[in-house]
Amino acid sequence: MDVRALGYIGVDVTDLAAWTTYAEALGAMVIPAPDGDRVFLRIDDRPYRVAVHQSDDEQGLAFAGWEFADQRALDQAVVELEAAGYPVKPSSEVERADRRVSGLVHVTDPSGFALELFWGPILDHEPFNSPHGGSGFVTDSLGFGHIVLGTPHSAAATEFYTEIMGFRVSDYWRPGGAEVVFLHCNPRHHSLALVPAEVPQLYHFMFETRTLDDVGYALDRHHARGIPISMGLGRHPNDEMVSFYSRSPAGFDVEIGCGGRLVDDATWTVTEITKASLWGHHPPS
Ligand SMILES: [Fe+2]
Repeated sequence: MDVRALGYIGVDVTDLAAWTTYAEALGAMVIPAPDGDRVFLRIDDRPYRVAVHQSDDEQGLAFAGWEFADQRALDQAVVELEAAGYPVKPSSEVERADRRVSGLVHVTDPSGFALELFWGPILDHEPFNSPHGGSGFVTDSLGFGHIVLGTPHSAAATEFYTEIMGFRVSDYWRPGGAEVVFLHCNPRHHSLALVPAEVPQLYHFMFETRTLDDVGYALDRHHARGIPISMGLGRHPNDEMVSFYSRSPAGFDVEIGCGGRLVDDATWTVTEITKASLWGHHPPS
């Protein structure tokens, strides 16, 4: 199976109003949906990369949209998923219009996360124009960023993403006997990381800016708006991202970083890292 990229995600939040101010601090364009119970975060020429849904009680990942090259690649994915015992549900025309894609199917991963496999994103040719300036985000063939998911079924989840979905392992981190696995589906070091957890949960999603200054400006916007920082500036040893972690109003974090490493499958070898950060990423004192 040939997943090309993390195309989009949906998140459930209980305080949608707080997300307008919050998403501005991230540097995204915030586009309210006409129905009033969602806002869309736009960071490039896609209509949105994160759909934020008002929920009465749920907070976290509503769905993750994984992108395929074309109809043929998606059809092949359906065949492979069903052969492996994962039922695939077709989408309705209304769903495809809502997601702004040409083709879409649904499948549930071993942790219970709702996945949307799609092809043919419908582009927005209005130029991306962050209200805060900046040089923009690193997306295109690398997808919009990454997600880090906690799962009580990490062995089954790792097998699903590697053996069936075709992700390759980038590296491991084994703090205290747990096994965190970083997975890539394109040259971005990881589009997905899986962390053992008691309940399935979204730990964070990541936006990658083009410059270090844009990370700094995002940090300043957090300070100006009083938005809490979970972990200050630091650098990861594996993806080499210089980043900070912002605490979203929905409880999960958003990582804003730059300088992410690219993986070349022709030469890459899997390693094990022994600390999460080379330096920094300290909680605020
Ligand atoms: Fe991350």
